[in-house]
Amino acid sequence: MARIDVEDVAHRYDADAAWAVDALTHTFRDGSASAILGPSGCGKTTWLSILSGLLRPTRGRLHIDGREVTALPPRQRKIAQVFQFPVVYDAMTVFENLAFPLRNGGVAKEELKTRVEATAELLGLTASLDRRASGLPADEQQIVSLGRGLVRSDTAAVLLDEPLTVIDPLRRWEIRQKLRRVHQQTNTTLVYVTHDQTEALTFADEVVVMDRGRVMQVGTPRELFEYPQHTFVGHFIGSPGMNFLPCRLAGHELVVEGHRVPIDRAAFGDSGEAELELGIRPEFLELTSDRAEGSVPARIRSVTALGDHHLVTVACGERPLQVRVPEGAPIPTQRGFLRFPPEWIRLYHDGRLLE
Ligand SMILES: Nc1ncnc2c1ncn2[C@@H]1O[C@H](COP(=O)(O)OP(=O)(O)OP(=O)(O)O)[C@@H](O)[C@H]1O
Ligand SMILES: [Mg+2]
Repeated sequence: MARIDVEDVAHRYDADAAWAVDALTHTFRDGSASAILGPSGCGKTTWLSILSGLLRPTRGRLHIDGREVTALPPRQRKIAQVFQFPVVYDAMTVFENLAFPLRNGGVAKEELKTRVEATAELLGLTASLDRRASGLPADEQQIVSLGRGLVRSDTAAVLLDEPLTVIDPLRRWEIRQKLRRVHQQTNTTLVYVTHDQTEALTFADEVVVMDRGRVMQVGTPRELFEYPQHTFVGHFIGSPGMNFLPCRLAGHELVVEGHRVPIDRAAFGDSGEAELELGIRPEFLELTSDRAEGSVPARIRSVTALGDHHLVTVACGERPLQVRVPEGAPIPTQRGFLRFPPEWIRLYHDGRLLE
């Protein structure tokens, strides 16, 4: 268990290469479960390798529990890392695989046995302890890898880099639950890297969203959903993501495609008459057949049935927007009207949320 402070960390792989990560400043709180979420190539693995000590950052500093570790090699940081693909010793049994990090750490025999058995119990590996790792299917091997990351009691943090890639999609949920349980029981600081928002949002208390090497927003799943600080986060979180429309402030209203839309003006400070973008989630946009005060006409483009709701694509001017309509609610056939509930309207200038 430990707190990790990252202070203005940047890394590039070559002197003339672009920054793979830049201006990373963040605290992973002691005992927290965090996720680093972002598209492929945004720098997640680079950041994790800097935390574990596999990479020395080009700039910046790292502290674990207040002690500077920037120049320390991995083994002096007591950080366990679980990779995308299983790392197991084929010739050893599951027991020996789990015991390996403990033996390396000089743990006494009795305690070693207790720790291995407890970890196996937690991960459902008890029945496989005597089996050779080579005989296990890939997803079981990955669970053994997880176990090796979790088995030590003196670990400062466990870093997991897309650890469920090789796991059958149906089992991922189960293993995520196991990990959460391990976290609740041990209070280990966990950092979980993924490009899958469902995984990040269901696993972590705090999600760090990255794009092109930089942190775009840190928040709880709910904060990311309700208050994306950046249009990138609005797009990236949600399925589908937030809708965006060009608009203009005019007095106490917005002008959207030439139509006036009421807003809670006080929520947006004094931002003049700038050209803005209106952001609203498909879940909060309302589609009706009848024109109402403040609604905006839209053409219906397509309707997709998705179990408990329909996803309706409409065109507002030239812009396609997505509306999530609950099962059973009426959907206009050709033309309808969009209502923008003021409490769910977010405004962006240059990609940043106006507050
Ligand atoms: N060993 C390396 N040498 C040179 N460039 C690298 C190296 N590893 C990563 N990069 C570059 O650094 C940037 C960040 O890569 P990184 O692997 O950290 O991203 P990622 O978010 O983990 O991506 P993915 O989701 O695909 O695993 C990318 O532009 C990548 O091409
Ligand atoms: Mg990666």
